[in-house]
Amino acid sequence: MKRGSLAQRVVRWQRSHGRQGLPWQGIRDPYRVWLSEVMLQQTQVATALPYFERFLQRFPTAADLAAAPLDDVLALWSGLGYYSRARNLHRCAQQVVGALGGDFPTDSVSLAALPGIGRSTAAAIAAFCFDERVAILDGNVKRVLARVLGFDGDLSKTAEVQRLWAHADDLLPQTDIATYTQGLMDLGATVCSVRNPACDRCPLADDCVARASGEPHHFPVKTRRTRRGQRENALLWVQCAGQMLLVQRPATGVWGGLWSLPEFASTADLRTLTESWQGQGEWLTPIHHALTHFDWQLHVLRWTLPREAPLPPDLQSMEASRWVEPELALKLGLPAPLRKLLLQGQQAALVEANSTTR
Ligand code: ADE
Repeated sequence: MKRGSLAQRVVRWQRSHGRQGLPWQGIRDPYRVWLSEVMLQQTQVATALPYFERFLQRFPTAADLAAAPLDDVLALWSGLGYYSRARNLHRCAQQVVGALGGDFPTDSVSLAALPGIGRSTAAAIAAFCFDERVAILDGNVKRVLARVLGFDGDLSKTAEVQRLWAHADDLLPQTDIATYTQGLMDLGATVCSVRNPACDRCPLADDCVARASGEPHHFPVKTRRTRRGQRENALLWVQCAGQMLLVQRPATGVWGGLWSLPEFASTADLRTLTESWQGQGEWLTPIHHALTHFDWQLHVLRWTLPREAPLPPDLQSMEASRWVEPELALKLGLPAPLRKLLLQGQQAALVEANSTTR
C-alpha cells in the first residue's frame, strides 16, 4: 500500500463510519479532551460518557478540579477503576493551575511531562486540540498498525514497540491529523477487535498483511503475557447504631486512596478477631472482582454490634478509619463492588450455612 493512501482511507472512513458528535469531539478544549482521553484509557466510550458529564458538571474547569478535595474526585471516579488515573488527574490539574497558570501546554512533548499523561495520550490531545502532526500508539492502535503492516516484532519488548512507533510516525498524513487520529482509535475499537476483527468492514482490508495471512488475530505478537493470579481476603462490615466503619486505603495499591471496609488476610483472621465480640455476624455472598493482574475473592462478614456495647479495642485503634451513615458512605470514593454491596444493603444474600450468629 502506498504511504498516504492508508491515512487517506482512515480519514475518509472516519468521516463516514467513525464516531461523531461525542461531547469531547470538535471542541479543541484541552481540559475536556484531556479528561476524556484519561477516562478512555481503559474504559469504553459508552461507560465513560455519563462520568464525563458528571465530572464536568462538578468541575467545569481545571481550576475547579485542582481546588477540590481528592476524596471528591475519587468519589466521582468510583466505578471507572484504575484509581491511580483519578489521583493523577487531580495532581495534573494542580500542576496546570499552579505551575502553568491554568493553561494546558499546547504541544505533545510538554503535555507528556504532566502526571498521568503518557506519550500516546499527549499526542492525542495535541492532535485533537492543536492539530499537531504527531503519532498515537495506544493498545488499540498497536493492534491496527501491527495487523495492517504485518508487524511481527514482539511488543513485550521495548525496542519492538519503538520500531512500531517509528512506523506510526511514517504513516502520518500531512493534513486532517485530528480525523486520522480519531479514525485509528475508532477502527481499533469498533472494527479491528482483538479476537474477531470485522475485516469485511475495514477500509484497510485490501492491503492488510495480517488479513492476507488468514490469521489476523495472531497479530500483534506479544510473548510475555501477564499470568493472572488469585487472591482471597476478608472484609469486615461492622455496623453499630446506624453507622458503619470505613477505612481509607493506602494511596498505592489496589483501590488506592478509596474508602473501603477494613481488610483482613483471611476469613480465619476475621473469625479470631470477632470471637469475643458482642452482637452477631453473618457471612455475605463473596464478592468476585477481576483486576488487571489477579482475580480477587472477598469474603464479607457483616457484624452488628449492640448500640450499648463498648467498642472492641481493635476497632478503636484502627488507622485512617471513620464511622459514617451508609448514605454518607455512598457519597465517598468507594470501590464499585463495595458501592454495589452497600446499595444492596439489607437484601444482601446471606449464606446461611456460614452464619456465625451467636
Ligand atoms: N480511546 C482513547 N481515546 C479515544 C477517543 N478519543 N475516542 C474513542 N476511543 C478512544
